[in-house]
Amino acid sequence: MQNILITGASRGIGLGLAQAYLDRGAHVHAVVRNADSPALRQLQQTYPDRLHLIACDLNHDDAAAQITQALNGHPLDIAIFNAGIMGPSHQDVAQASASEIAELFLCNAIAPLRLARQLAAQVIEGGVLAFMSSQMGSVQLARASDMPLYGASKAALNSLLRSWSEAEDRPAASLLALHPGWVRTDMGGSAADLDVATSAAGLVATIASQLGTRNCLFLDYQQQPLAW
Ligand SMILES: NC(=O)c1ccc[n+]([C@@H]2O[C@H](COP(=O)([O-])OP(=O)(O)OC[C@H]3O[C@@H](n4cnc5c(N)ncnc54)[C@H](OP(=O)(O)O)[C@@H]3O)[C@@H](O)[C@H]2O)c1
Repeated sequence: MQNILITGASRGIGLGLAQAYLDRGAHVHAVVRNADSPALRQLQQTYPDRLHLIACDLNHDDAAAQITQALNGHPLDIAIFNAGIMGPSHQDVAQASASEIAELFLCNAIAPLRLARQLAAQVIEGGVLAFMSSQMGSVQLARASDMPLYGASKAALNSLLRSWSEAEDRPAASLLALHPGWVRTDMGGSAADLDVATSAAGLVATIASQLGTRNCLFLDYQQQPLAW
């Protein structure tokens, strides 16, 4: 049975990934700030033995210690660092306060890499550490003109990931930056192209395609490579 860790599993794409992996027979460790989400409670009623909730705010310094303790030595096949925020709605460099910038870059770039580096020893050789990026994080594609602060935070995530892939403590697993498509969630909005289930199914297949390799790739939910 595969063991999967998913951060930001209370709603949106993270919840969809939890559902998709549970439906496929996996054991899911779902990291959430708020376990009171009705959808998550329903999922736990359906899969009481295979859904393990871990309550944790990922921005806190002791997040890795809390999660490590909750995992209690269980190895992971796949760890998905999905939690993220959009940042201030104005998305304006000139207006942005220090605290808005700090929260955005901490949540979208620093916290996921810090957590991954601290949990990497629990991911099996040939496993996958996947990070929910965005096509807006591609410097080369330059698709973030409407959301420049958010795009910059995902570019920072991608940069930290590529740096780690060249570092001595790089794990013997695949490192993936993923673009989930434009998805109908609280963040993506109701006009987005994809429903959560379609994106999640594509992400599950994309991650599965990289098991047993040692790549560092930027892929979309249809396994297509994106320019960094
Ligand atoms: N939707 C899209 O079209 C789209 C496109 C490209 C990339 N993405 C990326 O995909 C990921 C998921 O997006 P989404 O659309 O599902 O967003 P969402 O519906 O807004 O959900 C965000 C999730 O992240 C969690 N989260 C945020 N900050 C956290 C923290 N400090 N500690 C723990 N959990 C935290 C939220 O938990 P709470 O419920 O506690 O707030 C929630 O579960 C994000 O990284 C996003 O940038 C989304």
